[in-house]
Amino acid sequence: MTVSDYHIPVMLSESIDALGLNEESIVVDLTFGGGGHSNEIVKRLGFNGMLYAFDQDLDAKNQLIDHQNLTFSLSNFRHFGRWLEYYERLKVDAVFADLGVSSWQIDVEQRGFAFRFNEGMLDMRMNPSAGFTASDVVMRYSQSDLVSVFSEYGEVRNSKALASAIVDVRGKWNNEVSIPLFNALLDKKYIGDRNRYFSQVYQALRIEVNDEMGALKDMLIQVEKYLKPGGVFAVLTYHSLEDKLVKNVMRSGNIDGKDDKDDFGNSLNPYKRKGPKYLEPTEEEVAINNRARSAKLRVVERR
Ligand SMILES: C[S@@+](CC[C@H](N)C(=O)[O-])C[C@H]1O[C@@H](n2cnc3c(N)ncnc32)[C@H](O)[C@@H]1O
Repeated sequence: MTVSDYHIPVMLSESIDALGLNEESIVVDLTFGGGGHSNEIVKRLGFNGMLYAFDQDLDAKNQLIDHQNLTFSLSNFRHFGRWLEYYERLKVDAVFADLGVSSWQIDVEQRGFAFRFNEGMLDMRMNPSAGFTASDVVMRYSQSDLVSVFSEYGEVRNSKALASAIVDVRGKWNNEVSIPLFNALLDKKYIGDRNRYFSQVYQALRIEVNDEMGALKDMLIQVEKYLKPGGVFAVLTYHSLEDKLVKNVMRSGNIDGKDDKDDFGNSLNPYKRKGPKYLEPTEEEVAINNRARSAKLRVVERR
């Protein structure tokens, strides 16, 4: 399988240029996926350079290229700091993350991410050895927790009606819910555009199952500790919830985006912006790769 069968890398040249690499760079790619960005990074490294790559998905690990400058850890990126300490690499030149799911994860039926297949179990685990699936969320969460998941993570307009319909019917679903059963329910409840509605509900479940917001926060607040002064932090985001957290941390060093100041009124922000507020893909890229359409690349430099 080629890299692009697995996942076409988004904003590849913009991301690599932003990282400002040289042959001796020590780099972290927190989201290896199909290795689209990692492969370009290692090409630029010489004998003394090193890329530390992470992914929590065994399928991503199976895409690994054997390269002397690449060290891979099968791990949630929320633990990346501990791994760097384990490798005794306490400071790095660049940290990159390309958030969300890979095309592979969405395109393989058995992973249970996609409503369009209309078969298989509602799964959505990025780490297939984690115990908790999207089916578990639907079957076990209280009605009010379901409302929160659908409204906060999917901005589903009728989240109360949907949660109530789930609670009414799930007793008949035998401990697990399949994609066809769940879709049949959504078909009765959706409002507005069907595709958009289904996407919002599936996105909400995916974010919850993988604790995407929790992992992202844990990762974001660690980066400043491991970046050398002048080091670069670049993140590709795909939806407003993750983008807001990234923007806040890059603007202030904290999750709330609060601009803390010292006693003399100087900003305590550990970062300064590198280039424009964010970059977006070109029209040409979106025409070739529709999954790039909502991407934003944010880049800062460690002070
Ligand atoms: C958009 S893909 C990355 C694609 C990659 N840049 C490429 O071009 O091939 C995102 C990857 O990040 C992984 N991922 C998402 N959240 C993660 C987390 N919290 N910890 C580790 N890996 C994560 C997913 O499993 C997926 O493989």
